[in-house]
Amino acid sequence: MPTLLVVFHSASGGTTRLVESAVDGARSPEIVEATGTAVDVRVLGAFDAGVDDVMVADGYLLATPENFGYMSGALKDFFDRTYHPCLEHTRGRPYGLLVKAGGGGTAAVDAVVPLATGLDWRPVVEPFVAAGDLTDAHLAAAHELGATLAGGMAAGLW
Ligand SMILES: Cc1cc2nc3c(=O)[nH]c(=O)nc-3n(C[C@H](O)[C@H](O)[C@H](O)COP(=O)(O)O)c2cc1C
Repeated sequence: MPTLLVVFHSASGGTTRLVESAVDGARSPEIVEATGTAVDVRVLGAFDAGVDDVMVADGYLLATPENFGYMSGALKDFFDRTYHPCLEHTRGRPYGLLVKAGGGGTAAVDAVVPLATGLDWRPVVEPFVAAGDLTDAHLAAAHELGATLAGGMAAGLW
């Protein structure tokens, strides 16, 4: 069973709601029905996720608020601790990115993508930015992103 590791941080709950929707998508019964394979979705706060968690996962969903034109300090701490030990060991694995922002969001995307690219993770879904107040459309997009990422893993597409 492939494992999707979700690593996220949220201070005021917006990113958490996006993650909950994405995880719901990743755990959709339709994925098992269509592929015969379930995906084990592990959800960890960024401060709690470590090298071992990254090593044993088969794919990643990262989620962060945009804070001060960057990813959250918690997700940066995750990369600070895991990047070098995991480099060379996780190449080619698929990943997705969710960003919750007040009004921007692209700066957080621009902060995370080079690190994921440096790890040689594969961007199999477009990063999704939810800017401003969360809407049903944001939550639906996060759900779709989670389902697509996990569904592709279950189907062996990536
Ligand atoms: C300290 C701080 C810095 C922020 N910096 C930005 C920013 O640079 N760009 C932006 O679009 N929103 C910014 N915001 C707004 C947050 O991204 C937004 O409130 C988001 O929903 C927070 O996510 P959370 O609810 O998961 O903590 C900032 C908020 C805080 C508290």
